[in-house]
Amino acid sequence: MIDELKKEIEGVKQSFLREIEQLQSPENFTSLKERYLSRKKGIVSQYLSRLKEFSAAEKPQAGQVINLLKAFVEKTLVQIEEKCGSSSGGAEKWNDYSLPASDLPVGRFHLIAAIKWQIEDLFLNLGYEIALGPEVELEDYNFTKLNIPEHHPARDEQDTFFLEGHDELLLRTHTSPMQVRYMLAHKPPFKIISPGKAFRKDDPDATHSPCFHQVEGLLVDRGIHFSHLKGTLEAFCRSFYGPDIVLRFRPGYFPFTEPSAEVDISCFLCSGSRSHKGDGGLAAPQPDCKVCKGSGWLEILGSGMVHPQVLRNCGIDPEEYSGFAFGMGIERVAMVKYGVPDLRLLYENDLRLLGQFG
Ligand code: DAH
Repeated sequence: MIDELKKEIEGVKQSFLREIEQLQSPENFTSLKERYLSRKKGIVSQYLSRLKEFSAAEKPQAGQVINLLKAFVEKTLVQIEEKCGSSSGGAEKWNDYSLPASDLPVGRFHLIAAIKWQIEDLFLNLGYEIALGPEVELEDYNFTKLNIPEHHPARDEQDTFFLEGHDELLLRTHTSPMQVRYMLAHKPPFKIISPGKAFRKDDPDATHSPCFHQVEGLLVDRGIHFSHLKGTLEAFCRSFYGPDIVLRFRPGYFPFTEPSAEVDISCFLCSGSRSHKGDGGLAAPQPDCKVCKGSGWLEILGSGMVHPQVLRNCGIDPEEYSGFAFGMGIERVAMVKYGVPDLRLLYENDLRLLGQFG
């Protein structure tokens, strides 16, 4: 029994020392002193009142162990009181500026910013330049020069915000007008990407937001054809989503490209890797896949060969030059890459979600 007591008392001593280390104010000190030394309910008194449980032979030794604890606690508390003062004064001495600072939460970049930089890095490595354009754009650049004339139905799909008193100005509906700005100001050859915000008069839901982010790409040179577009997007998607990704080009329609293609990638979760049969085909998608919903494909961007009329509108001779363009939504890329089910989650600034990335 005496051995058990010795062990217990040693434990009490250790936790007393730990508490001493954490002391931060005279108030803490007073309540600690109470807890250990109060006559009636103090920890030391409680041990003393247990003395009667010991046999006559063990009692003296037990008393000695408890009294040693009492003396240790008293002495330590007196020393602290002498050094730092008690609740009756000298509170400023309780601040020990030599202690290490408590942990500060470390910030990290928002997922949208992080993905934008990843995309930029990949294209910079392919020799592209970054060109930034204004968010308030000329209607002419946002629509007309991109081969979307007034009354064209494609304008309705991208209904936006016009500036009161300035019929010719709007919040750009996509980053594509940067193509126009760049072509008007530069002579080919060039290759650029243009990341930034875009705006549409959409009601927010799981896949729409009135303000969102896109990255536009444009390359113009002599002798550019569709295989250059395919090769570039393949290089990008494989670096970004994984080396085994397969791309699918579906015919699409954009007024500013001809031909146009919507690009899907094979689902990286369930059919991302090519089948091991050696036939170059894809592994069959999982019907209950959370990422692609069983289709095996994920739509990620729009692209095409720059329409000759767009080149002409921007002072470039389509007989001499050709080019390709592409545009992708950064939110969409983030949702696909990380399986984010609802775009609004990205704007709620809930650190539990944002803290998972980056
Ligand atoms: N601007 C298009 C949109 O917002 C995306 C796009 C599609 C951009 C095809 C392109 C392109 O440059 O070639 O829906």
